Amino acid sequence: MKGSLEGKEIILGVSGSIAAYKAVEILRELTGRGAAVTVVMTEGAQRFVAPLTFETLSRRPVLTDLFTLDYDKHIGHVATGERANLLVVAPATANTIAKFAHGLADDFLSNLYLSSPCPVLLAPAMDREMYAHSAVQENLTHLKARGVHVLEPEYGELASGLIGRGRLPELSTILQKIDDLLRHQGDLTGETVLVTAGPTQELLDPVRYISNRSTGKMGFALAQAAQDRGAHVTLVSGPTSLPTPPGIMRTDVTTAEEMYQAVLDRLDTTTILIMAAAVADYRPSSSASQKMKKQETLTVEFVRNPDILAEAGRHKGSRILVGFAAETEDLLENAREKLRKKHLDLIVANDIRVGFGGETTRVTILDRHGGVQELPERSKREVAHQILDRVVALRSGERA
Ligand SMILES: Cc1cc2nc3c(=O)[nH]c(=O)nc-3n(C[C@H](O)[C@H](O)[C@H](O)COP(=O)(O)O)c2cc1C
Repeated sequence: MKGSLEGKEIILGVSGSIAAYKAVEILRELTGRGAAVTVVMTEGAQRFVAPLTFETLSRRPVLTDLFTLDYDKHIGHVATGERANLLVVAPATANTIAKFAHGLADDFLSNLYLSSPCPVLLAPAMDREMYAHSAVQENLTHLKARGVHVLEPEYGELASGLIGRGRLPELSTILQKIDDLLRHQGDLTGETVLVTAGPTQELLDPVRYISNRSTGKMGFALAQAAQDRGAHVTLVSGPTSLPTPPGIMRTDVTTAEEMYQAVLDRLDTTTILIMAAAVADYRPSSSASQKMKKQETLTVEFVRNPDILAEAGRHKGSRILVGFAAETEDLLENAREKLRKKHLDLIVANDIRVGFGGETTRVTILDRHGGVQELPERSKREVAHQILDRVVALRSGERA
C-alpha cells in the first residue's frame, strides 16, 4: 500500500480517550502511504499523549490552539479544513461526538469540523455503557444522517476491564475505510444509486416459504462502496440479518413482487440501478391462508414472478443498469444473453460455486460494448469497488 495515499491531505483529529496512543500508529501508517497529515488534538487528548510525538511523526506543527493564525497568517481552522481531502477523528470521544452533532465550536477540532467541506470519518472509542447510552447513539444517528462516516467500535476487553462494544476499531479497519473514502474521492457524487440485495421469500403458507441461499453481502458491499464514493444510496433488501450500512436508506421487502414494486416506485429518481438481489423467478400460484396440514405428497404449482431488470430495461432512459448473473454452467454465454436482452450496461457473472454466502467472490464483468473483465477471487468489498469503477468509466464515456 506504499504510496497509495500520495497527494492526499488528511486531518487526523485526536480526542481524549485512553485509545489516543493508537492514533500514533494511524499517523505512521498514513504518512507511510504517502499522505500529508495534519494532527489536531483536543485538550483532553494532550493529557494522554504529548503533541511532540505527533509533531515528530507528521513533520508538521500539531494544531491545538484555536486562537492562533496558521503559518500563512490565515485563520487556522478554516485554512486547514479547506485544504483537506478527509477529516478523520480517531479516537472520537463521546464528548467530541456530542459537540459535532450539536454544532458546538469551543476548540480547534470542533471548529474544524464545522468549517471543513471534506468527508468526515469518526472512529469512536469509549466505555461500553457510554457507547450504549442513548445520548451517544442519538448523536451518532444525527451525524450519520448528515453524511458523516462512522465506524462501529469493536467488541472486546475495554480499558475499564469490562468486556463489551467500545474498543477503537482495529488499525487495519480504520486504514481500509480511509483508503475507500480517498481512493475514489467522490466519483459518484450527484448520483442516486439503488441497490437490491439478498434473497426473496415466496410464501407457501403463513410459516413456510421458498427461497435461496443469498445472504445479501454483495449488495450490501455495493451499497456501502457507492456511499463511500459520494452517491446517495437506497438499498432495497430481501430478508437478511445484515446491519444497514450507516447513512443508507433501507427498505425491507420479502417477496419478488414487493421488490418489483419497491424498485419501480424509486426508478424515476434513480440514476444507477444495481440489481444484486437473488430474486426468485417463480412463486407458488397460491399461498394458503392457514398453515398447511401434513399430507402424503404435496404438489405446488409455480407461476413466473415479474422480471424487475427487464422492466427497468424497458424504461432505461439515461440510467445505468447493472445486473448479476449467477450460474452453474455456461456462465458467460448466459450472462451475455441477459445483458443484451435486458438492455443492461454491465452484467456481473458469478460462478455460484465460489460466491454464494461467503466473504469473497470471483466474478467476470461484461459490458455493453463487448468488454470482458475477469477478476480473481477477492473480498466482496473489493469487487464492489471494481464494479463501481466500471460504472464510473461508462458514465464518463457517456459525458465525453
Ligand atoms: C483515564 C480516562 C480515560 C478516558 N477514556 C475515554 C474514552 O475512551 N472515550 C471517551 O469518550 N471518553 C473518555 N474519557 C473521558 C474524556 O476524556 C472526557 O469526556 C473529555 O472531556 C473528552 O474531551 P475531548 O472530547 O475534548 O477530548 C476518559 C477519561 C479518563 C480520565
